[in-house]
Amino acid sequence: APIQAPDLGNCNPPELPNTAPDTNCCPTSGTGITDFVLPPAASSAPLRVRPAAHLVDAGHLAKYERAVALMKQLPADDPRSFEQQWRVHCAYCDGAYDQAGFPDLEIQVHNCWLFFPWHRFYLYFHERILGKLIGDDTFTLPFWNWDAPGGMTVPAMYANTSSPLYNQRRDPAHQPPFPVDLDYNEVDVVVPTDEQIDQNLRIMYRQMVSSAKKTQLFMGQPYRAGDQPDPGAGSMENVPHGTVHTWTGDPAQPNGEDMGNFYSAARDPIFFAHHANIDRLWHVWRGLRPGNADFADADWLDAAFLFYDEEARLVRVRVRDCLDLAAMGYAYQDVGLPWLEAKP
Ligand code: C2O
Repeated sequence: APIQAPDLGNCNPPELPNTAPDTNCCPTSGTGITDFVLPPAASSAPLRVRPAAHLVDAGHLAKYERAVALMKQLPADDPRSFEQQWRVHCAYCDGAYDQAGFPDLEIQVHNCWLFFPWHRFYLYFHERILGKLIGDDTFTLPFWNWDAPGGMTVPAMYANTSSPLYNQRRDPAHQPPFPVDLDYNEVDVVVPTDEQIDQNLRIMYRQMVSSAKKTQLFMGQPYRAGDQPDPGAGSMENVPHGTVHTWTGDPAQPNGEDMGNFYSAARDPIFFAHHANIDRLWHVWRGLRPGNADFADADWLDAAFLFYDEEARLVRVRVRDCLDLAAMGYAYQDVGLPWLEAKP
C-alpha cells in the first residue's frame, strides 16, 4: 500500500544530531483537508516559466525579494510564514511523523522514490504562497543552474548581504566567484576553474545518464506503507543534490547548518533555488526517456502528503498529480544541457 499523508496532530520532536539545538519543527496543525486539484489548463493561462537564477532580470528579482521579505514578516504560526515553511521540510525529513497505522515507523521522504515528487510539491506551494503575498499569481522561483558553467557559483542574488535572500550560515570560502564542486567531499580540492567545470559536467553526465538507465536507479528505491525508511537513494540524490547542500552550508556550524543538514536546510532561501534545479533535472531526465520514465506502481502513484496552500488551506496531494509539469502550470527556462556531451 502507498505511504499515506501524515496526521499533523500527531507530530513528534524531530530526531536531530546530538549537536543540534533543541528545535521544534512541527508545523501548525490545521483541519479541513481538501484534495489537490491541478490549476486551470494551460490553454486558459500561460505556463509560468522558472528562470535560471544567474539570468534573472531586475524586475523579477525585485518581486522575489519582496515576496520573501513578506513571507519572513508573517506571524510565526501562519502556515505560510517562512518559519512554518522550513519546518515542513524538517518535519518530513527528521522523523516527526509516523506512518499512518505504523506507530513504530516514521515517514522519511529522502533516500527513496518519494524524493523528487515530495520536493516538487513542496516548491509548488512555496512558490504559490510567494506569488500570493505580492499579488502576482504568475510569480516563479528561480533555479540554481549549477549544471551549466554560467551557474556554477552561488548566484549573486543570494550572496548580497542586504537581501532577504541572504543567509549568514554558509561557507564563507564558497562565495562567488568560487566554483561549486559537484562531487564535494567536505574538503576543498582547489583546481583551476576550467578543470572544475569540466569535472562537474562529467559528474552530471554520470548521474543523469550512465548511472540513471532505469527508473529505480534515477528515482530511488520503493518505499511503501509498513516499510522501514531509507531503502535507498537514486543517482542524483547523494551527488550532486547532497554535495551541493554540504558545499553551501557553514562548516563552522556543528552540522553544516543551514544547508548542510536536513533539519535546517530550508532556513536558507537558496534551498528553494537548489531544489528548483533538482526538480528541473527530474523533468529533463524524464524527457530523455519518453514513455518509459515513471513508475507504474500504484504504491508510488498514490503516495500522499499534506501541504498548506496560498490560502492557508490544508491540501492532500498524490504523486500521480505532479508528473506533468505543464499540467501543474509551469516550465523551466531553456538553458541547454552542456553536460549531455560530457561523457566521462
Ligand atoms: Cu529535502 Cu535537498 O533535501
